[in-house]
Amino acid sequence: MAKYLVTGGAGFIGSNLVDTLVQEDNQIVVVDDLSMGLVENLPQSDKVRFLEHSITDHAFMRALLQEEHFDYIVLLAAIASVADSVERPYETHQVNQEANLNIIETIRQEQLPLKKLFFASSAAVYGDDPALPKQEEMAVKPLTQYAVDKYATERAIINYSRLYDLPFVAVRFFNVFGPKQNPSSPYSGVLSILLNALTHDLPFTFFGDGGQTRDFTFINDVVSAIVGLLHTPEAKGEVFNIANGQQTSLQAVATTMQQITGKTLAVSYQATRAGDIRDSYANVDKINALGFMTHTPLAEGLRAYVASVQ
Ligand code: NAD
Ligand code: UD1
Repeated sequence: MAKYLVTGGAGFIGSNLVDTLVQEDNQIVVVDDLSMGLVENLPQSDKVRFLEHSITDHAFMRALLQEEHFDYIVLLAAIASVADSVERPYETHQVNQEANLNIIETIRQEQLPLKKLFFASSAAVYGDDPALPKQEEMAVKPLTQYAVDKYATERAIINYSRLYDLPFVAVRFFNVFGPKQNPSSPYSGVLSILLNALTHDLPFTFFGDGGQTRDFTFINDVVSAIVGLLHTPEAKGEVFNIANGQQTSLQAVATTMQQITGKTLAVSYQATRAGDIRDSYANVDKINALGFMTHTPLAEGLRAYVASVQ
């Protein structure tokens, strides 16, 4: 049994991680301001303590870190939508970069003992450079404040780890999908919006022609990668792509979802979103070399996702 802090733990990835950590009999403190997450995402368990609070309250976070003795810290709280960050660039900076810097600086200054700290960066850091697949050593080209802040925080995590010998690791998630992604927000992940449209007979809008590509990655694979990295002591001071390693267009995934659900989408088209990336998929050799990353075939993940809401 170990003690975990999960920021953003009421959100999509966070709450799926908390489910797994509870099953493994750990104690978990969740800090989430519920700006996107849902308290009902969290399991009913005396092993989970939920604190409805913003990570931008630096004094609160410092006191929490000093008072509790966390073995593991998972930093997931963020304005997670690229489109939302385009609307709110300064708030994005405060949440996605400054708040995380306060956390790692507190750990450094207070010399807090820790087994591992994990930070969720993003494929968005690669930007729209045409070279594919995206490999960790490639030059980055962040197109939005979201991507700038993810990259800056990721570098701070790596530099703190190397300069001060701290057990910190960062990953670049690609497009994660699965149960518990908030379906009711226009800023949610596209597959959550798409499945909600199919389930409730709502119209779906393609921003652009639908030919944009993503590396859609099933949540269970992401949770196993997070847990694997937390428990691999040599995985520190590095960034890893976390993805399925497969390039799929939005049109193709919409077709598969219609086949699985047996329904037809009513679609319309609008202009491409500002700051949107056309093509994205990952080289996953680096994480595969550690030996614990699973890669659920896309159609299988989509079937499990559809089944979870029926
Ligand atoms: P999410 O929006 O479901 O989860 C983020 C959580 O952070 C939400 O519960 C939200 O309420 C919370 N939050 C936001 N601002 C906060 C604040 N100031 N204080 C405390 N909590 C706050 O998104 P997700 O898909 O679960 O993403 C988790 C992390 O992974 C994010 O950092 C995101 O940028 C990153 N990421 C996600 C994907 C993806 O495809 N889902 C891909 C790359 C990176
Ligand atoms: C997503 C994640 C982001 C992550 C990035 C990594 C969310 C909300 N965003 O961003 O956290 O860092 O992957 O690659 O989880 N689209 C439509 N119609 C819609 C909604 C979206 O056509 O109703 C399009 C978008 O314009 C975009 C694509 O679908 O081209 C994917 O959008 P979205 O799910 O928001 O993901 P990313 O912007 O790739």
